[in-house]
Amino acid sequence: MLTLENVAVFYGQVPAIHDVNAAFEAGTVNFVVGPNGAGKSTLLLAIAGAVRARNGVVILDGKHISGLNSEDIVALGCSLVPEGRQVFARLTVAENLQIGLIAGRTKGAGRGDLEQVLSHFPILRSRYRQLAGTLSGGEQQQLSIARALLTRPKLMLIDEPSLGLAPLVVDGVYEVLARLRDEGLTMIVVEQQTTRVKKIGDTVTVLRDGNVSFFRSTSEIVDYGELEKAYFGFNN
Ligand SMILES: Nc1ncnc2c1ncn2[C@@H]1O[C@H](COP(=O)(O)OP(=O)(O)OP(=O)(O)O)[C@@H](O)[C@H]1O
Ligand SMILES: [Mg+2]
Repeated sequence: MLTLENVAVFYGQVPAIHDVNAAFEAGTVNFVVGPNGAGKSTLLLAIAGAVRARNGVVILDGKHISGLNSEDIVALGCSLVPEGRQVFARLTVAENLQIGLIAGRTKGAGRGDLEQVLSHFPILRSRYRQLAGTLSGGEQQQLSIARALLTRPKLMLIDEPSLGLAPLVVDGVYEVLARLRDEGLTMIVVEQQTTRVKKIGDTVTVLRDGNVSFFRSTSEIVDYGELEKAYFGFNN
């Protein structure tokens, strides 16, 4: 469904990611893990068209999307849940969700979509008229995911959904992601930790210093120690 070929992104003269090759299949949950500064967010931003790749191509369902602007990429079915949620703090929950509906540019999208998405996030229904900035971190994370879902994505990119949240809240977020996986949504999930990989991941990619240092289907991982080694740079 998504292929990256030799993708590189530079900030000024410095490459944040380089020579990234990867392929993700429809209906799978794909983790991208790595330490601070490895280039994980940059990778998602490059796929989503929020930063421009200097080299390489990104192909979504056979269509070259590198070079398109982010609005067009959303309309093609690829939606980003950014690091730090990025909800519009001074707009209400309802207004934030409305933005998702509009961004998807889907004909006929409306009340039905909203009801379906809210069924995953009952707390948002009870906070519907509240300013998004007054929500808790976990509620904002739910709002950010809900907003992305309202664009009717076939591929959702989720950047550190557990960032700054209490473990129980993280469990709740991952329960929602597991349900979305069961509904067939394809996901690329960025995390700093590898703790959730085994539970709901189909593949795991380790990014170190802007490059893929490890890729494996979770079904092929016999010893999770090798993943940890790759993460900490102890392989080879
Ligand atoms: N806007 C920017 N301008 C200049 N350099 C940047 C910018 N954004 C990121 N970088 C640099 O690019 C590299 C990759 O950053 P990125 O945010 O993609 O890493 P990350 O893996 O998401 O890290 P974290 O786990 O801390 O979120 C880092 O060295 C970072 O300092
Ligand atoms: Mg990041």
